Amino acid sequence: MHEHSQAQDDSERFTQVERFTVQWSHGLFFSSHTFDPANPVLADAIRGADDESSQHGMIVVIDEGVTDTNPDLQDRIRRYVEAHRDSLPELRTIHVTPGGEISKNDPRMVDEILDLINEHGICRRSTVLVIGGGAVLDSAGYAAATAHRGVRIVRMPTTVLSQADSGVGVKNGINRYGKKNFTGTFTPPNAVVCDTRLLESLSDAEWITGFSEVVKIALLKDADLFERMERDVSKIRERDLTVAIGYIFESARRHLEHITRGGDPFESHEARPLDYGHWSAHKLEQMTNFELRHGDAVSMGIALDSIYAGLMGMESRDSVERTIALLEKLGLPIFHPCMSQTDVLIEGLQEFREHLGGKLTITLVTEPGSSIEVNEIDEKIMMRAIEELSRRT
Ligand SMILES: NC(=O)c1ccc[n+]([C@@H]2O[C@H](COP(=O)([O-])OP(=O)(O)OC[C@H]3O[C@@H](n4cnc5c(N)ncnc54)[C@H](O)[C@@H]3O)[C@@H](O)[C@H]2O)c1
Ligand SMILES: [Zn+2]
Repeated sequence: MHEHSQAQDDSERFTQVERFTVQWSHGLFFSSHTFDPANPVLADAIRGADDESSQHGMIVVIDEGVTDTNPDLQDRIRRYVEAHRDSLPELRTIHVTPGGEISKNDPRMVDEILDLINEHGICRRSTVLVIGGGAVLDSAGYAAATAHRGVRIVRMPTTVLSQADSGVGVKNGINRYGKKNFTGTFTPPNAVVCDTRLLESLSDAEWITGFSEVVKIALLKDADLFERMERDVSKIRERDLTVAIGYIFESARRHLEHITRGGDPFESHEARPLDYGHWSAHKLEQMTNFELRHGDAVSMGIALDSIYAGLMGMESRDSVERTIALLEKLGLPIFHPCMSQTDVLIEGLQEFREHLGGKLTITLVTEPGSSIEVNEIDEKIMMRAIEELSRRT
């Protein structure tokens, strides 16, 4: 009887599996003086490739660190939108939100933006324009991606790190359970507009921290870029914009191409080369209660994985020394006292594996411009690498 009913169920079963692709476009624009009414870049980016004249409205979310150092910015935005009123959606409100990691740690920051999207009738044909560092881009991006299952978003990254790296990406995430980016989505922005003049108000520490991601991309993809950085290190450190912008631009371009041409935009593979140095960086941020800057943590993470790869015979001694020297000459930190809690730090490997969702896959650099993936980390050697790093400081 039982077998009979199972057979009946089978005859009623219907299965159909289809594969389909979705087209995205991802526009990256670098410009300066983007709020000068004569500069069309921002208006073009907000309007989008489809010239969606039916866009309904727009809200602007700005990082408080940017408004504090650029007190006239809100007026400039209003004047810009007014000058382009024929082609831009109606500006409904400007919202200033605290900058830095609090934006990702405190769920109220996301809720405030969701409230505004709701109150101001921001629909899927309306735009959230977010101006700020990587943290505010992440939290506003998360709000925009989840409201109505995704409203349009145009990002304006305002830090070196976010112009060179995070702002160009397709991810957004906020921290939960004390873990970085525990909740988030993969949502390509409608456009990314980088105004290089906005970098002028960054503190020296915020300026240099973002270059750890540029070192990362050079180590992973471009030996020549790495060599040029070695030559220009003082100019970068001294904030020579004409030289430094070239590196930020190059890093952003490589990042974009990795996403659009690398074959894995939504990171479904286990390997995540752009996360080089990040397994420990994310753990260090957590261990310091997010007081450590992401870029500084990445610098430490790169130094650690480089020394480890050297000890394992995977990276040449010369490459390890050049990597550490470049980080140090840039003025980036390579060690933090909490790294001495080796057991806790090494838990970061397990958390990274969970975040990847499959087996542990760590990218290691073999020499500038080349990398490999490993599925195992020898914890004893990693402990030695941590000790070696501590002796260097
Ligand atoms: N989504 C991703 O793919 C991705 C990738 C890498 C990093 N991130 C995230 O990005 C965050 C770090 O971003 P960040 O390095 O840009 O720093 P941040 O967003 O933490 O900002 C640092 C500080 O600079 C201030 N600030 C921003 N722009 C300024 C300006 N132009 N002038 C003066 N002050 C300014 C902010 O108010 C803040 O106090 C981390 O949360 C990290 O996890 C996300
Ligand atoms: Zn990063």
